[in-house]
Amino acid sequence: MNASAIVYTSNTGFTAQYATLLSHQTGLPLHQLEEAAALPRGTQVLYLGWLCAGKIQGLKKAASRFQVEAVCAVGLAPECDLDKLAGDNHCSGLPLFYLRGGYAPARIRGKYKMMMAMMKAILSKKTDSQSRQALKAIELGADWVSAPQLEPVLNWLQG
Ligand SMILES: Cc1cc2nc3c(=O)[nH]c(=O)nc-3n(C[C@H](O)[C@H](O)[C@H](O)COP(=O)(O)O)c2cc1C
Repeated sequence: MNASAIVYTSNTGFTAQYATLLSHQTGLPLHQLEEAAALPRGTQVLYLGWLCAGKIQGLKKAASRFQVEAVCAVGLAPECDLDKLAGDNHCSGLPLFYLRGGYAPARIRGKYKMMMAMMKAILSKKTDSQSRQALKAIELGADWVSAPQLEPVLNWLQG
């Protein structure tokens, strides 16, 4: 196994679902980043974080405490430019995976709600099909979590 624990940060539960699936399938212990104090510093981890405005939430903190061996970013976009994502998140050189999570409007609070209100206003002025689909997901919610998306991550974990 290329990591000895799975650590994650999730705002509305989709990243938590992927992390839980991975833990069940590998037997690796699972920890939320905020509650990962039980893990020794320097533990080799697979880190999963949700995407907020292109930033993988919690990655910086996880990397300051653990040996992050690979990263999964969870977002609502259908796909993602991994080179850009790695550059923007200072994790070039690490295995990086993108997983499509979902969107749960009722579970978004505070500053994130305000950010998404702005995103909605921008998207509602656009007419291309990708923007329309994103707007629909943001208004109605969506859940794209699926076990097959984890196949490359499992392959990496199992070396
Ligand atoms: C404020 C905000 C910003 C977001 N920014 C992005 C983004 O840049 N790219 C993306 O694909 N998804 C983005 N999303 C969608 C979330 O990453 C997506 O809903 C994800 O599945 C949430 O995971 P969680 O349930 O573990 O929190 C954003 C969501 C919010 C609320």
